[in-house]
Amino acid sequence: MKVLVVGNGGREHAIAWKVSQSPLLSELYVAKGNAGIWEIGKKVNISPTDVESLAEFAEKEGIDFTIVGPEAPLVEGIVDAFEKRGLKIFGPNKEASKLEGSKAFAKSFMKKYNIPTARYEVFTDFEKAKEYVEKVGAPIVVKADGLAAGKGAVVCETVEKAIETLDLFLNKKVFGKASEKVVIEEFLEGEEASYIVMINGDKYVPLPTSQDHKRLLDGDRGPNTGGMGAYSPTPVIDRETEERIKREIVERVIEGLKNEGIYYRGFLYAGLMITKEGPKVLEFNVRLGDPEAQPILMRIKGDFLKLLLDFYEGKDISLEVSDNWALCVVLASKGYPQKPETGKIIHGLKYLKKMEDVVVFHAGTKREGEFIVSSGGRVLNVCAYGNTLKEAKERAYEAIKYVCFEGMHYRKDIGDKAFKYLKE
Ligand code: AMP
Ligand code: GLY
Repeated sequence: MKVLVVGNGGREHAIAWKVSQSPLLSELYVAKGNAGIWEIGKKVNISPTDVESLAEFAEKEGIDFTIVGPEAPLVEGIVDAFEKRGLKIFGPNKEASKLEGSKAFAKSFMKKYNIPTARYEVFTDFEKAKEYVEKVGAPIVVKADGLAAGKGAVVCETVEKAIETLDLFLNKKVFGKASEKVVIEEFLEGEEASYIVMINGDKYVPLPTSQDHKRLLDGDRGPNTGGMGAYSPTPVIDRETEERIKREIVERVIEGLKNEGIYYRGFLYAGLMITKEGPKVLEFNVRLGDPEAQPILMRIKGDFLKLLLDFYEGKDISLEVSDNWALCVVLASKGYPQKPETGKIIHGLKYLKKMEDVVVFHAGTKREGEFIVSSGGRVLNVCAYGNTLKEAKERAYEAIKYVCFEGMHYRKDIGDKAFKYLKE
C-alpha cells in the first residue's frame, strides 16, 4: 500500500521509520520531509499546510493511507479535505483540532466536562487583562489562544513580566491573530509528563508514557522550546497516576467530545502537570509530541502501520510495548528558539549509523549537494535504547560525541529528572 506522511520534523522521521518497517508498505511518500526521511521515502514538494494540494496529490497518486504529524495542517482542516475525496487519513478533523488550535476552547471544554486543569480567565482587552493580573498576582501563566509553535505560553514570575507579555500578545500581536485573545491561568506546581493516546470515537489506546524537556537549558532554565529531549517510559506517571489520567482526563474528553457531537480519530496528547492533588492538564495537542514520539515509537513492537490501519477501521488492537527504555536528545542550532542559524554542514552522521541501539532521526535538515546541512532550530534527534534509563542515556550521549555542526548545542541532563524515582 502507498502511505503518505505529512510533516518535516523528527516526529515525522520516527513515524516514517516505523511505517517503513511494515510488510504492508509498497511505497512511502513524505510532504515535505527532511534529509533523513528522504532516505526512506519519496519527497512530495507540497507544504504540509497546503491541504487542498495535498489532497489532490493523494487522490491522483492513489495514496491508500495518510498519517499527519504536525498540528498546523490538522487545524487547517487536512482531514476534512482528504475525507471529502474519500481518502483515508489518520488525524482529527478541523472541528476536533480546536482542542489544540484554541486554548480558550480547550479550557472551556475542560471546565464543562470537569477535567482537572489550572483555573483561568480569557481576555481580549489589554486593560482588563492587566487589571486581572494585578489583582491575582504572580507567578501566573499567560498563553496566546492560537497556535504559536510551542512559544505561546509564558510562565511569568512577576506581575511586571505578565503585563509585558500581555502587551506583546494583545497590543503588539506578536503572534498575529493567534494572540488576539489570551488565556491567563493559575501557575501549577509539580512535575510535567506527557500522556498520549490514540482515539477513534469511543475507543482509545494509550501509548507508552514519556517526559519532555521544554526549557532550552539544563536544570529547566531558559526559554520554552518545542522540546529539547524526551524519554519513555517515565516513572513520573506511576500505575495509580495512569489510572487517574485515564479516568479523570482521557475518558472525560471522549465523553465530552461525544456530547458535543465532535468526532475524534487520531492521536491526543495531554501535556500534564502531576501536582500534589493529582494530574492536571496544561494543554491538549491533537497529534503526537515532538520529541516524545521518537522514544515512544522506538518502544512500540510490531507492525505500526497495521496497528494504525486496524485502529482507523475501528478494530480492537493490542499494542505491545518493549520493556526497555528509549531516550532522545535534541541537537539544536545556535540561536534556537529565537533565531536559529541554519545552513551548517553536519559531520559524523555515518558513524552513528553503525552504532548498535542508537537511532538518529532528522528534524531540521536538508541536502545540499553531497552534504547534509541544518535547516531549522531543532536539527537532529540522537536516540538510544537501554535496559535501564541510565544505559539509554549513556549510549545517546556517547553517540553525540561523533556528530557536530557549527553552533550545535544540546541539553546534557535529558532523563535526569527520572533518576530520583528509580532505584538503579
Ligand atoms: P503549554 O504550551 O500550555 O504546554 O505550556 C508550555 C509550558 O509552560 C509547559 O510545558 C509548562 O512548562 C509551562 N506551563 C504552562 N502552563 C502552566 C501552568 N498553568 N503552570 C505551570 N507551568 C505551566
Ligand atoms: N514536545 C511538546 C510538543 O510536541 O508539543
